[in-house]
Amino acid sequence: MTTVVVQGGTDGMGRAAVLARLGRGDTVVAIGSAPEKGRRLAEEAAALGAGDRLRFIRADLSSIAENERVVAEVRERCPAVDALVLCANRQHPRRTVTADGLEATFALYYLSRYLLGHGLRAAFDAAPAPVVVNIAGAGLTAGAVRFDDLNLERGYGPIRAQLQAGRANDLLGRSMADAPSSRAHVLLYHPGFTRTAGGLAALPRPVRAVIAAAGRVAARSPQEAAAPVVAAVDDPPARSLTAVDRGRPVDLSLSTFDPAKARRLAEATRDLVLARYGPTPLLPEPLAPGAG
Ligand SMILES: NC(=O)c1ccc[n+]([C@@H]2O[C@H](COP(=O)([O-])OP(=O)(O)OC[C@H]3O[C@@H](n4cnc5c(N)ncnc54)[C@H](OP(=O)(O)O)[C@@H]3O)[C@@H](O)[C@H]2O)c1
Repeated sequence: MTTVVVQGGTDGMGRAAVLARLGRGDTVVAIGSAPEKGRRLAEEAAALGAGDRLRFIRADLSSIAENERVVAEVRERCPAVDALVLCANRQHPRRTVTADGLEATFALYYLSRYLLGHGLRAAFDAAPAPVVVNIAGAGLTAGAVRFDDLNLERGYGPIRAQLQAGRANDLLGRSMADAPSSRAHVLLYHPGFTRTAGGLAALPRPVRAVIAAAGRVAARSPQEAAAPVVAAVDDPPARSLTAVDRGRPVDLSLSTFDPAKARRLAEATRDLVLARYGPTPLLPEPLAPGAG
């Protein structure tokens, strides 16, 4: 029996991956923050005859405590997790701060992925060939991780915040491969322009209209964009780290995967979680000097 956990599994590519894997007979845990989207997904699962194999967990994953609760619930129900698919993201036109005092894009689009990717390590190690698929912007050259201001207290902009978290996810992939907390292999996946609605909801109406119009012409469907994610569950990448941009392999020697920066971010993230939240079983062991 294959078990798949989809962070942000109630909309867009995450939802497409959930329904496709239910259709293949998997047990799927889908996490999202809106109860009505969870209800709709449950109805769709029931229509597929898979209602008993879907578990929806409602959680605001921009909160560290909520990630802790989700990991505990998954661990209680699923002895092994074969695949974790990371999709949750939300645009914030204005700087928004979470209950932990963290900038919300960083907290959801990067930190939740770090916490789930490490926090489920025991469940990955109970699966034969575990994989973590991180859907973001693999191989981005724009933007930067601002090590002196991860919380974007100075000069916040929504695009800057998205690019920082995207770049942080590339570094997360590198550090999960260089200093693994589990046997899970990592696939960083850039889906390209995809016709999804969730991310647009928070944008100003005129911007939303332009993007939606462009999407009708140029974007792929969530099902098409999610197809490599669905396939990676059955056929996980052979190497500990792989990056793909719309079907093309991404060169892992690009500076966005820099091992020294990856190590620096892993250490900074650990320090940030300890400072803002305190110890949590989700944190991996500290990096050994010189490792990773
Ligand atoms: N769409 C594109 O063109 C595109 C292009 C390149 C990269 N990407 C990346 O691909 C990934 C998936 O994108 P998408 O467009 O498919 O996403 P989407 O349609 O916007 O769906 C986002 C998912 O995240 C969940 N979510 C949002 N805030 C949450 C929170 N605080 N706690 C828990 N769950 C939350 C949403 O559910 P709720 O609303 O219920 O919370 C939803 O299930 C993202 O990382 C995105 O950056 C997308």
